[in-house]
Amino acid sequence: MRRSTVIAGLAAASLVLAACGGGGNAESAGGAEAESGGSGNEVEVFTWWAAGSELTGLQALEAVFGEQHPDVEFINGAVAGGAGSAAKDLLQTRLQSGNPPDTFQAHAGMELQDYIDAGQLEDVADLYGEFGLDDAFPDDLIELLTVDGSIYSIPSNIHRSNVVWANPDVLEEAGVDPSVQPESISAWIDDLRKVEESGAIALSIAAPWTQVHLLETVLMADLGTEAYNGLWTGETDWAGSEVTGALENFETLMGFTNTDRDGLDWPDATQMVIAGDAAYNVMGDWAVALFEENGIERGTGFIDFPVPGSDGQFGFLADSFTLPVGAPHPDGAKAWLETIGSLEGQVAFNKAKGSIPARTDADPAEFSEYQQTAIESYATDEIVPSLAHGAAASVTVLNGVENALSKFTSGGSDLETLQAELVDATS
Ligand code: GAL
Repeated sequence: MRRSTVIAGLAAASLVLAACGGGGNAESAGGAEAESGGSGNEVEVFTWWAAGSELTGLQALEAVFGEQHPDVEFINGAVAGGAGSAAKDLLQTRLQSGNPPDTFQAHAGMELQDYIDAGQLEDVADLYGEFGLDDAFPDDLIELLTVDGSIYSIPSNIHRSNVVWANPDVLEEAGVDPSVQPESISAWIDDLRKVEESGAIALSIAAPWTQVHLLETVLMADLGTEAYNGLWTGETDWAGSEVTGALENFETLMGFTNTDRDGLDWPDATQMVIAGDAAYNVMGDWAVALFEENGIERGTGFIDFPVPGSDGQFGFLADSFTLPVGAPHPDGAKAWLETIGSLEGQVAFNKAKGSIPARTDADPAEFSEYQQTAIESYATDEIVPSLAHGAAASVTVLNGVENALSKFTSGGSDLETLQAELVDATS
């Protein structure tokens, strides 16, 4: 009951909160390119998985695609920048000028709703039947993807956002016992202070989207599931004292971070923990792929735990792939979508990416120790939608939150102004 209720509530909220999106012109999409390109044997796949472990994940998918559809050429349209920080704007420009890629990555939830509202996506519900996917995904995920009986994407994975990654050696040097996990943000602040006094960077962070990511996890931890979910349905007041308390904690946490953050992306911040320059980093579980890529062992080389106070919550986000209106190579896109939904594709991709399969029939034993904890948590914990990764709010709302936050963290506003601007951004 717990999960279906929350996700169903979100799907309903998505209709209420739907922003006007980019106003793409579905009628003219495709245009000349579609005519000249026909449905030829290629597929341009647009993602932001351009480098490092994210590229490795994409390549794992590409390899399965090559086996399943050897006659279709894979064209990598990735645009670098974590969380789509550069890709999403470029995508919007392409969609609005009638030049869509054949398929693009979009998060399940409110972000997808933006594209649906703008008439930029084809209904792919028939493909679920054709590829035998109707029973492959959890009902609540299908519900989140379904709008008025139509389904507009096929999910490739599920990531968890509310995870702390830490270097146990740095903690020990600071006199913090790595085996004891703080139970709340306030308890964690005591540990952060000890690390700061030891001379290491206590909490590594990067560009503004990673700060939104940190904020969402503080909101989850401090408000609890019901009040956090209420932020997206209108039931929780962004101007209220609970949010003020969480913002105060966020401000304190930011005080422990590296100052050279704005030019950095998530791998740089996670790398600081790997290198022993920083003790903690809060990041989604794509970070585990970076530790693994560096040959760092869970338990000895790094530890992970839910953001203090958010134990029992699964900060949810899911990548999914679409068939844009006017895609120049719809047959290539359908072939890609078949690979995305297939068991073989999901196993290969998720093993490399750090996420867990969206399909329910993958064998957990195929995955790493960390991923097995995520599979368990997804099955038993409360599901709370990620803000920074498109599950909870539209791109418009997210951009408003990020602008307000980066103004604050760069010294351009105080806490009161931040809260007022968050109220504006989310209303
Ligand atoms: C998320 C995406 C993940 C990962 C991350 C960092 O938005 O869902 O798959 O790529 O950004 O770039």
